[in-house]
Amino acid sequence: IRCQHTETDERKQKRNLLDNASNLLTNLLTGGSLGSMPTAEGAVSDLFGRPLFLSLYDWFIEHGGVYKLAFGPKAFIVVSDPIVARHILRENAFNYDKGVLADILEPIMGKGLIPADLDTWRQRRRVIAPGFHASYLEAMVEIFSTCSERLISKFNQQLEENVSGEQQSILVDLEAEFSSLALDIIGLGVFNYDFGSVTKESPVIKAVYGTLYEAEHRSTFYVPYWKFPLAKWIVPRQQKFHKDLKVINECLDDLIRNAKETRQETDVEKLQQRDYLNLKDASLLRFLVDMRGADVDDRQLRDDLITMLIAGHETTAAVLTWAIFLLAQNPAKMKKAQEEVDLILKARSPSFESLKALQYTRLIIVEALRLYPQPPLLIRRALNSDKLPGGYKGDKDGYEIPKGVDIFLSVYNLHRSPYFWDNPHDFDPERFLVQKTSDGIEGWAGFDPSRSPGALYPNEIMSDFALIPFGGGPRKCLGDQFALMESTISLALLLHKFDVELNGPPESVELVTGATIHTKSGLWCRLRKRVDS
Ligand code: HEM
Repeated sequence: IRCQHTETDERKQKRNLLDNASNLLTNLLTGGSLGSMPTAEGAVSDLFGRPLFLSLYDWFIEHGGVYKLAFGPKAFIVVSDPIVARHILRENAFNYDKGVLADILEPIMGKGLIPADLDTWRQRRRVIAPGFHASYLEAMVEIFSTCSERLISKFNQQLEENVSGEQQSILVDLEAEFSSLALDIIGLGVFNYDFGSVTKESPVIKAVYGTLYEAEHRSTFYVPYWKFPLAKWIVPRQQKFHKDLKVINECLDDLIRNAKETRQETDVEKLQQRDYLNLKDASLLRFLVDMRGADVDDRQLRDDLITMLIAGHETTAAVLTWAIFLLAQNPAKMKKAQEEVDLILKARSPSFESLKALQYTRLIIVEALRLYPQPPLLIRRALNSDKLPGGYKGDKDGYEIPKGVDIFLSVYNLHRSPYFWDNPHDFDPERFLVQKTSDGIEGWAGFDPSRSPGALYPNEIMSDFALIPFGGGPRKCLGDQFALMESTISLALLLHKFDVELNGPPESVELVTGATIHTKSGLWCRLRKRVDS
C-alpha cells in the first residue's frame, strides 16, 4: 500500500516551523516528567497526507515501544509494547478513561459503554455482558447465514443479468457490500430490526451512514468546532448530523417501545432457560428488556443500542474487506480456504458446529485482524499519574507519566512488531496453526494455550497482549465472539460460491482511516461463480 507524499519548499518551511513549535510545546506540557522518554521528531507535518498510524509505526521502529509525540498543541505517548499495553488495559485499567474519544463519541452514543463515565459503565457492562452468552451466539449463526445468503443471491442475480456478457463475471465494490451486510446483521442481532440494506436504501440507512461519517470526521478533525453552541444551527454538516441522529433515535425509540409492549412471560422463561433457538426474537434488546424488567430507562437503552450499532458495524465490514484483499493476493491460500469450506458447507448450512470445523477460515479472519486492526489505535487519558512498567524494547525501568496525559496505544504496531512476529507484514494464517505443547495441550502455535483453553480464536490472553484485536482487560470488546463468528461465516459462504479477484493492482487500493482502516475508493473486485460449488 502506497501513500504518495510530495513536498514543496514552501511546505517544507511550514513543516519546520510547525515541528519546532510542537517540540517546544511538548517539552512545556510534559515538563521534566517525560524528559527521558524518546521523542518523535517532525511529528506534526507527518500527520498530513498519510494515515497517522503508519507514521506511528516508523517512529516505533526508530524509538522503541514507548515514545512521546508532539501533536499540535498536545503531547501524546505512543505505546507499542505488550507489557505496557497490558498494564494500561488490564492491570491499571481504571486509572485511564477514553479521553478525547469519549468527547467525540458522547454526542452520538450518550452514556453508551464506549464513552460512558466509570459509574455508568460499571452498571451497564454488568447488565449487557451476560447477553452475549453462548446460546445467544449460537442463535445468531442463523442470522449471519441468512444475511450472507441474501448478499450471495444479489450477486447471483447480477451475474444472471450479465450472462450474455463475455466475462461471466461481475464487478462489485466489496467494501460497500460488506458494509451493508454488517449493518443488516447488527440490526437484527442487536435490536431485531431488518435494515435490508443489502437490497435497498431507506432514510434510516442513510441516517446511519451519515452519523458514521460524522463520527469519523470528528475523530480526524482536531478542532472540536461542533461544540460551539451555534454550530448545530449554522454549520450545514452539523445540521445534517442532528437530523440524522433524530431519524435513528426515533427508529430506536419505536423499537424499544415495541419490545416493552410485547414482553411476554413465556419468552422470559425461554431466555432464563437459555432456550434461544426457540425464541422468535433472540436479539440483545429482547434480552435487555425481558431479563432486566420493563422499567429500564429508555434513554439509556437507546444509548446502549446505538453504541453497539456503531461499534459492531464498520469494524466487522473492515475485517471482511481486508481478508478478501489479502486472499485475492494469495490465490493458493484462497484455494486452500475454498477446499475447507467446500468440505464443511457442501452438505449442510452453517451451524455452530461447522464453525468449529472451519479452522483455516477462522485463522484467516484473525490474520486479517492482525494486519489491519480495527481500530488501529486505542485512545486513553491518565486520570492520575502512573508508573508505566519497563517494556521489551527501549527503557527497561519504565516511565513516570503525569495525570492528564493522552496515550495512543498502537494495536497496529503491536500486531506488526518485528520483536514478536516472524515476517510481521506477511499474510500467513498458517502462523497460528494448532500445535501440541510438550505437556500435550493443544493450542495455537506460538501462544500459551493453557491461558485460554478451548478458545476458538487466538486472543490477547494466550498471546499475553501481543495480539489484541479486541483490546483487553475490563474494557475489552463485548462483541468479539459475535464479530469473529459473523466474519467467519460470511467469508466462508462467499468463498464457497465465488472466486474473487482484485480489479487492478493491490497498490491501487489506497488506505485511509477514521475509526477503522478502510479504502479510499472502495475494494473493487471481480466475482466469478465457482463451477465446483
Ligand atoms: C469495544 C474491536 C465488533 C461492541 C471494542 C474495543 C475494540 C473493539 C478494540 C476496545 C476499545 C478500547 O479499549 O478502547 C472490535 C472489532 C470488531 C468489533 C475489531 C469486529 C471485528 C463489535 C461488535 C459489537 C461490539 C459486533 C456489538 C455487537 C463493543 C462494545 C465495546 C467495544 C460495546 C465497548 C466495551 C466497553 O467499553 O465496555 N471493540 N469490535 N464490537 N466493542 Fe467491539
